[in-house]
Amino acid sequence: MEDISLAINGKRVSCPSGTSILEAAERNGIKIPKLCYHPDLEPFGACRLCLVEDEKSGRVMASCVTPAAPNMEIVTDSPRVIRHRKNIVRMMIAEHPESCIVCSKGNRCQLRQIAAQMGIGETDLYPMPNYKQLEVENPFIVRDLSKCILCGKCIRADHELVVVGAIDYNLRGFKSRPATLHDVALEHSNCTFCGTCVSICPTGALAVRDTRYVGTPEREEYTTCGFCGVGCSLLMGVFDDRVVETNPGSVHGSVNGATLCVRGHFAHDFLNARARLTQPMIRKGDQLESVSWDEALSTIAKRLGDIKKNDGPQSIGLFGSSKCTNEENYLFQKIARAILGTNNVDNGGYLAGRSALRVIHERTDGGCRINPIENLDGAESILVLGANPAQSAPVLSYAIKRAARGGTSLIVVDPRKTDLTPLSSLYVPISPNKDCEWINSLAAILWKKFGHDTAFIERFTEGFGPYSDALSSFNPERLCLSTGTDMASLERAAKLLKGKKIALIVGHGITQQRSGARTMEALLNLSLMTGSMGSQAGGLYVIAKESNEVGAWDMGTVPNALPGRQPLGNAEARKEWEQSWKVKISPDQGLDLIRMIEESEKGNLKALYIMGENPIRSLPQGDRVMQAMEKLDFLVVQDILHNETTRIADVVLPGAAFCEKDGSFTNMEGRIQCFSQVVPAPGESKPDWEILDLLATRMGHEKRYGSLDKIRAEMTRSIALYADLKENTGTGFSWIRETSKRRVFSPNGEGTMIPFSSLRPMETEVADDEYPFTAILGSQRFHLGSGTRTANSERIRGFGLKGEVEFSPEDGAMMNLQNGDTVQLQSPEGALTREIRLEKGLRPGLVFVPTAFHGNDATNLLGLTPFENTQSQGFKMCQVKVRKMQGPKGREA
Ligand code: SF4
Ligand code: SF4
Ligand code: SF4
Ligand code: FES
Repeated sequence: MEDISLAINGKRVSCPSGTSILEAAERNGIKIPKLCYHPDLEPFGACRLCLVEDEKSGRVMASCVTPAAPNMEIVTDSPRVIRHRKNIVRMMIAEHPESCIVCSKGNRCQLRQIAAQMGIGETDLYPMPNYKQLEVENPFIVRDLSKCILCGKCIRADHELVVVGAIDYNLRGFKSRPATLHDVALEHSNCTFCGTCVSICPTGALAVRDTRYVGTPEREEYTTCGFCGVGCSLLMGVFDDRVVETNPGSVHGSVNGATLCVRGHFAHDFLNARARLTQPMIRKGDQLESVSWDEALSTIAKRLGDIKKNDGPQSIGLFGSSKCTNEENYLFQKIARAILGTNNVDNGGYLAGRSALRVIHERTDGGCRINPIENLDGAESILVLGANPAQSAPVLSYAIKRAARGGTSLIVVDPRKTDLTPLSSLYVPISPNKDCEWINSLAAILWKKFGHDTAFIERFTEGFGPYSDALSSFNPERLCLSTGTDMASLERAAKLLKGKKIALIVGHGITQQRSGARTMEALLNLSLMTGSMGSQAGGLYVIAKESNEVGAWDMGTVPNALPGRQPLGNAEARKEWEQSWKVKISPDQGLDLIRMIEESEKGNLKALYIMGENPIRSLPQGDRVMQAMEKLDFLVVQDILHNETTRIADVVLPGAAFCEKDGSFTNMEGRIQCFSQVVPAPGESKPDWEILDLLATRMGHEKRYGSLDKIRAEMTRSIALYADLKENTGTGFSWIRETSKRRVFSPNGEGTMIPFSSLRPMETEVADDEYPFTAILGSQRFHLGSGTRTANSERIRGFGLKGEVEFSPEDGAMMNLQNGDTVQLQSPEGALTREIRLEKGLRPGLVFVPTAFHGNDATNLLGLTPFENTQSQGFKMCQVKVRKMQGPKGREA
């Protein structure tokens, strides 16, 4: 782009053509007051505070909406400009109510800041407060539009950044204000309570509802969100060493910029929950009693040592956490392998469908790890499968919606309509568990219609011949019909994707399916055939449920891989770690977390050490899991909150939450983000790495690390993927280092080819007439995972969600069900009872069951069966029958 040259305040500056005067000034360190401008929003020109004067033409103009032009002679603080600005601010203040003095935005109100900078105290104008009804009905956002200056930032953020469209201008002139459609309360609109408008509002018109703390935090610190695997940057406000508010970090280059979701913005109040663990405890009789750290750690070291000696290392299991940091996971699995001598170590990522994801890892040799979400802006097409990111990973969904609104073809394949459906070019209402067949049908059509990338296939892949032969022999019509969809939509999908690189967004609807591994193979084949893999416009985006699901696997907190995802069966890799740790490592694959429960039931597992997970709530068949754990000789739980599992533990250790310690998480993009402590951990609780470090030395580790840096140094020395982590300090980030030997990921185009895999035969399913409905389990944006943390958020609880089971209106009519009726869902494994809601986006025969509600009773419906087992139903769906219990207001069934 051509550069232009102009003068600002007598200084000669240049900028690319099209740059606004405001941006040209700011890039050269010249400040101009502004209220309606935000770098991430389209300029709007509403407040006129950014006025500047061009001495050459004598014109006064709003600098945020006026492009810099050659030879302008701009003055930002001429007497004329200052006079205009002061008048604008005076009028805004004259319209403001007296409550301005006790506003919760306090000293951070930009209007007050600007008025103070201009020396405006009294306005000398007749006060005309524009009183509006204070809206305080929901537990998240307070709207006091008396303080609104109509800058339009909230509306633009809602439309442009999070693409929800919950609010717009309502009425004209003095009565004008941002409002929902038909001016209903936010809680009755399509507002998602992401809070982005609240953070971006320059005045106190929009504020966070908080009954416990109102005012300006003492300090603000950056960190990374501890909930989902998107890994948003946060700015936490702290008062009296407690987190009192959370805002988007608005860090340049971060995954979220100025946005967050309802969890990130509002649910971090769980940090101050009464259920926080603050002291080590040991079971004495029926009671857990507070003890010293010394007593708790000595007891654990002694009991685990005795069990190892008497029953062998394989009688001990360790259940680590996809919410704990990389450093903590590294230490955790090291304790398992190097001190206790067992590979019985796993983490919650198992539940997210790790076995399906292993397919990607093995076929790409660990490639395909880095996929920045910002690349979606330049995607040619996006195919979303088995995912509703607007609920599970909202900030990812904003990027998808922005791309779709910008013209990228968006195809949504899902059994139920998702929040992305209205913006999609095509919605394919597929039958549950049929994604693999649909993808193969799509590949067959694309192959027949030349929708493949010959150059890419020849250069980077092998085995295309047999694969394409199999595609040629396919009957897409027949296969397509088996998926519950039609040829017309398949043809349309092929037309939309032909010749384009595809960004594949894959959710738990795929990875948690019984046939998840088969489906991942089909997706990889499609990605290779279209040349999408490794390209900036395409590739694979797998949604990570927890903040460090990716990192926990990388660190080896899994039963079959060493740190760096090196297979345990690889003798060379084992030898390297043996040399590093100076111990012998067992070559035998350990127990995954379901097998640990099974072996506890059988009495073979004697001790379990759980860090940062709540398996009684998160695993299927919670009662069975509890009974299995009650059979253990010794159960240690290290966590931040009292929960279903701490209640039956022998020893409970209080850990620190993410913002109470230093560490790093690896997000779904392959970005390793470091963070530093924001507030001290409550009571006597300690960072998990410190607890593990103290325990390790008591159990025979040669010496204490004593600091996170020393653990990190050991990790980065030995794990090539994380070699760049050592460059990070404070809150910096780096990317996983590419170590794949596949040519497509190599910068110099050398290496081995990626093989196509053969098409696996379709799975036949036998319908069970006793259980005629298919229940799909899925998350809602207010909760994460099993909901242990979000259920402890006062705001989330205060919103009064019921987690109603959703039925199609057709099924509702057939069973005489109305909104608010209570039903029992019964699967072959168990039952739950909930209220219902009729939902148009659902097809007859399907039932949607939100997870994380009512102690996560949705998992009662699932079997506790390992994914690899052919009997497994996966963790996403099951067959159920329905019994109506009771109608609303006592209407009997
Ligand atoms: S509510 Fe806030 S962000 Fe929205 S228009 Fe008013 S002042 Fe601007
Ligand atoms: S909270 Fe989010 S969804 Fe709701 S109005 Fe504000 S920006 Fe829109
Ligand atoms: S999208 Fe995920 S990481 Fe981002 S704020 Fe929401 S919960 Fe946190
Ligand atoms: S900042 Fe330019 S008009 Fe508001």
